Amino acid sequence: MVEDKVIIVTGGGSGIGRATCDTLARNGAKVIVADLDAASAHVAAEAITAEGGVATAVKVDVADEASVEAMVAFAVATYGKLDGAVNNAGIEMSNKPVHELSAEEWRRVIDVDLSGVFFCVKHEVREMKKNGGAIVNTSSGAGLRGQINAVDYVAAKHGVQGITKAVATEVGAFGIRINSVNPGLIMTPMVRDRLMHDPVFDKALDGLRQRHHIGRFGEVQEVANAIMWLLSGQSSFVTGAPLLVDGGYCV
Ligand code: NAI
Repeated sequence: MVEDKVIIVTGGGSGIGRATCDTLARNGAKVIVADLDAASAHVAAEAITAEGGVATAVKVDVADEASVEAMVAFAVATYGKLDGAVNNAGIEMSNKPVHELSAEEWRRVIDVDLSGVFFCVKHEVREMKKNGGAIVNTSSGAGLRGQINAVDYVAAKHGVQGITKAVATEVGAFGIRINSVNPGLIMTPMVRDRLMHDPVFDKALDGLRQRHHIGRFGEVQEVANAIMWLLSGQSSFVTGAPLLVDGGYCV
């Protein structure tokens, strides 16, 4: 499905990104594991290499355009081309109601979760215009519906849907497809951190679980499988689309 494809995964050192790197590598891709946390990116790349796969780690701050440009250049310098990208790095909402959210808190989330995706898409498309490619942006159920105490995150993730649709209209002619994956709740370190600090932890968890009609939270592997499909030729007529992997959360 993705054999010999060179694919960047941002946020590849943890959670959904890490599972995506492992899945792509197991299926023959050459993976650039990109993360702000350089140590976790190295651990992920070394684990792949130890299993006989091909992966290289690189540090990136997706909120910094120069850093993103350098990441794309590094991928091309390392493996000679760029076929795919998973713009997945992200941070959680500030977890405050709108009237208490400061401009700094707003900007922190927008810089990473929205501008970060813009910078990645911009530099990936520049490279992919040469030979075509496929891009997947990790959005969220919060990219399609509202969520309490999350105006920063919901705005950013809706913006990711906007980027995905707008860019799809520009790049199809170059053989580039761009889609989003929209996960429901997956118990990654990011989510666990937030819920652990929630004063009504058990109540919040039960309510959230009930909103997932399959009756449980998702697994990172279930999201990684969907991302790989969107990167592969199996989805060759799919572009500009959100793919919900959310156990029915958005129904
Ligand atoms: P995670 O916290 O396990 O992984 C996120 C990774 O992104 C970390 O390795 C972190 O170091 C990296 N990162 C953070 N800021 C960065 C930056 N500025 N530059 C580069 N890397 C940076 O979280 P998880 O859950 O795997 O999240 C991945 C994506 O999935 C995020 O975009 C998140 O919004 C999205 N998502 C997650 C859901 C969940 O329930 N876990 C649900 C819906 C969407």
